[in-house]
Amino acid sequence: MATSPVAVIVERLAAQIHSGRLAPGTALPTHRELAARHGIAVASASKAYAQLRSMGLVVGETGRGTFVRDRPPQREWDSGDEARRSASAVDLSFNHPTWPGQAALLRGMLRELATSGDLAALMHQQPPGGRRHERRIVADLLTTSRGIDADAERILLVNGAQHGLDVVVRAMLRPHDAVAVDALSYPGFRMLAELQSLDLAPVPACADGPDLDALERLCRSRPIRAIYAMPTLHNPLGWVLDAQQRQRLVAIARRHDCVLIEDAAYAWLADPAPVALAKLAPERTFHIASLSKSLASGLRFGYVVVPASCAVRVKAVIRASHWSLPSLVTAMATRWIAEGTVAQQEIALREDARRRQAIAADVFAGLDVRAHPASPFLWLRLPEDLRMDRAAEALAARGIAVSKAEAYATGRQAPHALRLGLGSVPIDGLADVLRQLRDTLERLPV
Ligand SMILES: Cc1ncc(COP(=O)(O)O)c(C=O)c1O
Repeated sequence: MATSPVAVIVERLAAQIHSGRLAPGTALPTHRELAARHGIAVASASKAYAQLRSMGLVVGETGRGTFVRDRPPQREWDSGDEARRSASAVDLSFNHPTWPGQAALLRGMLRELATSGDLAALMHQQPPGGRRHERRIVADLLTTSRGIDADAERILLVNGAQHGLDVVVRAMLRPHDAVAVDALSYPGFRMLAELQSLDLAPVPACADGPDLDALERLCRSRPIRAIYAMPTLHNPLGWVLDAQQRQRLVAIARRHDCVLIEDAAYAWLADPAPVALAKLAPERTFHIASLSKSLASGLRFGYVVVPASCAVRVKAVIRASHWSLPSLVTAMATRWIAEGTVAQQEIALREDARRRQAIAADVFAGLDVRAHPASPFLWLRLPEDLRMDRAAEALAARGIAVSKAEAYATGRQAPHALRLGLGSVPIDGLADVLRQLRDTLERLPV
């Protein structure tokens, strides 16, 4: 039980925040008011807020006050682990960019928009797939930094990459269609496949990508309607396919007339950008990406590059499912692209990810780790005799939340492995957290 006045205040406010009585965004009393209310010195009130800040429960900006922090959302595929996550002080299960200038960037953009010429336009709906001048901005981004030449008519704006995947699946596939996927793949695609009753056909992995011989055999053995692939910075294994592997993947898709779904959510991390499947096979590739991993996951801005012959079909699904993106979101995102903010942010996050991977490589020396050097996550294979459930439980007991391999498995078998997101911990505390993690795993009785 808390004894000092500061500890009592911290405990009380923390309880009110955890219970939801103090909702995210609530303005808390100023340091001076808090001090007067509890009969303590202003310095003690500041100390209480500093503690709440380090617990991740409040945010404060000089001159603007202290506010209850909005907690990161729960991911669907981790729902069984909700209690564990919310009790964890360190969350390595999530991957969304949080960087110091985010609030200032948003504030600046809202100001800029507030004084811009045609503000009322943002109160009007846009055509499904977005307005042409904004799609052109995305087309420029694709030409200059992604190596994809697509005219604006082939670019459709969507509500993030997950929504892009959804509209492509709905436009191009029917229930019970077979889709080739990596044996370990992005859980959001598996969720979609379940929803649309798709038949997922897992393709095993080699050291540096999908086993393309196995994919060829699969396509020969039964009709495969689509291939879902992450050729550039695979989630969770981090691979980047080389030119030959890409050519082969495209050749298989052509030979068996498969739709190619190219998920490029993390592709911007690989610099220079390898040739996209959308460039190699524009007639059958749906290239999907967003700003969720580079700028802000809450922005919900993404795009799909579609084969010219499919634009009308995909647009019809966008219209039927949500009509269009919020005009305000599109205006902000495309301005950030056009003025170079996105490009700058990508450079900064690549650099940050490299530093984090170097720290992880140092702490995890000798362990079985797979990661791209500029990726914000890594894949940690556990020793044969260590089960992932026990590992995750033990880590949760030490306040560290992680993702288990089973969330990524598209077949029946999941390896004993964990995916660790490295981005949510301040970089100067990362080595410590990873050491604790390693120590916890090594102490587990086998
Ligand atoms: C590989 C992959 N694709 C798509 C998505 C969805 O991204 P968005 O937030 O843009 O919907 C994610 C998000 O984690 C992802 O990891």
